[in-house]
Amino acid sequence: MRISDPKLIAAITALGVEHKVGVSLAQKTSLEIGGTSDVLVIHRHESLPELIHLLKESSVPHRFLGGGSNVLLPDGELPWLILQLARQEPDVRFEGNNVYVDCASDLGRTVTTCAKHDLGGMEGLIGVPGSIGGALRMNAGAYGTQIGTFVREVKIFRAASGQIETLTGSEINFEYRHTSFALDDIMLTVRLELPSKPYSEILQGIRICNEKRRASQPLNQKSAGCIFKNPPGGSAGRMIDELGLKGHSVGDARVSDRHANFFINAGHATAADMLALIADVRRRVREKYGVELEEEVIVWKAP
Ligand code: EPU
Repeated sequence: MRISDPKLIAAITALGVEHKVGVSLAQKTSLEIGGTSDVLVIHRHESLPELIHLLKESSVPHRFLGGGSNVLLPDGELPWLILQLARQEPDVRFEGNNVYVDCASDLGRTVTTCAKHDLGGMEGLIGVPGSIGGALRMNAGAYGTQIGTFVREVKIFRAASGQIETLTGSEINFEYRHTSFALDDIMLTVRLELPSKPYSEILQGIRICNEKRRASQPLNQKSAGCIFKNPPGGSAGRMIDELGLKGHSVGDARVSDRHANFFINAGHATAADMLALIADVRRRVREKYGVELEEEVIVWKAP
């Protein structure tokens, strides 16, 4: 979506929000799939209430994009203006076992920064791509660790109230790859409470998780991580593998040879290719196992 109303552009700029015209969003996602749109980069959290109010008043459809590592965007000109948060400086602040992290920060980098301060617990999350905000929204997890365990407080922009609010950890439900945040809430800052652990011990845990991940996941390819959630008690990857679907493709969208629940962009895959592959695999799993797989990746469907 392009915005051209000079009055609206002037009001946006007056808030200190940066307006980028006709951005290729494929560059902003790990799948490297997605069309184009204008992007608004928000440098100060405080400008959000007024900015969103302005956009609503002007009937401009908008969506917030985080780290782009767990999302499938549509092809062509997107029907939404895209909002992104600029990382705040400093992005991590320590107070004893409490860590205040800017939600635009990279998850992996945060895990290692905390390790250097002898704060551990999040070793399993090393190698999970994306931002802290995205990890919070999805309750990212790996190797027995979920980020929700450590969350004590989250500052968010609440779309429902149009205000910035602070929620305590107990006010948020963290489930398997699901939280009680509303779809249009924007994560701003989080306070994590992490257990003390010597750096060398944390590093050892990080190494083990990195090795496990390297051995089983296609890390150097364009993907959005696992495409489907695991069904209760089962493994989507194992079922897809057992169906002999590794390497199965639609256009350049392909089931990874390394991990069958990773669908990769093997060249110039479009969203249409990827959606067709998702639908095809889901149908085959349903027919063979009677299980309806649910997407883990967030699919942005154009109206
Ligand atoms: N398996 C196969 N073939 C495959 C892939 C897996 O037979 O192609 C088998 C494995 O041998 C294993 C079982 O399936 O016995 C489970 O596989 P794995 O240990 O790789 O774990 P997963 O359940 O497929 C989950 C998360 C990953 C996370 C890993 C490690 C989901 C959907 N996936 O994968 O998270 O990294 O555990 O903890 O919950 C993600 O969220 O995007 C993601 C990749």
